[in-house]
Amino acid sequence: MQELGRTLAGLLRPGDLVLLTGELGAGKTTLTRGLGEGLGVRGAVTSPTFVIARVHPSLSGGPALVHVDAYRLGGGLDEMEDLDLDVSLPESVVVVEWGDGKVEELSDDRLHVVIARAVGHEEVLDDVREVSVRGIGARWSAPDALAALQGVSAR
Ligand SMILES: Nc1ncnc2c1ncn2[C@@H]1O[C@H](COP(=O)(O)OP(=O)(O)OP(=O)(O)O)[C@@H](O)[C@H]1O
Ligand SMILES: [Mg+2]
Repeated sequence: MQELGRTLAGLLRPGDLVLLTGELGAGKTTLTRGLGEGLGVRGAVTSPTFVIARVHPSLSGGPALVHVDAYRLGGGLDEMEDLDLDVSLPESVVVVEWGDGKVEELSDDRLHVVIARAVGHEEVLDDVREVSVRGIGARWSAPDALAALQGVSAR
């Protein structure tokens, strides 16, 4: 999942919005950690549950990573704006855990990443994840926009 995050980082530009969906412990934060590595941002990406959002500035003049955990964000976008993040969202890459139905208005263009645990016939395959990535809006409309993700190996 971390490697997928690193690869995904290579596709992202300032202003991009990524929504991460998946049950508790699916790997949303783990993917975001890889994304932070790929973007070259400052600070360890950890679960922001108790702060709702954390800004990781770029170490290399690229976009900052804004990592949001919307789990307790009841009011959606208004509340998100109230967070008063000391950063410009159009100049950042914004990644939101548990953001479905809450932050879509932030951008017409967004990536939806859905993470599922793989289930085997007789056992739950604890470490295996199945990930689908869907691009919405003109930003992701090119047929090969997400092609780079195809080659990420599963571990
Ligand atoms: N293939 C995998 N990808 C991601 N995490 C994995 C994988 N296999 C095992 N894990 C473990 O599953 C856990 C995933 O935790 P993580 O915090 O990334 O999930 P999360 O989706 O952010 O959860 P939450 O909903 O609580 O925010 C970690 O403990 C990680 O080590
Ligand atoms: Mg998390």
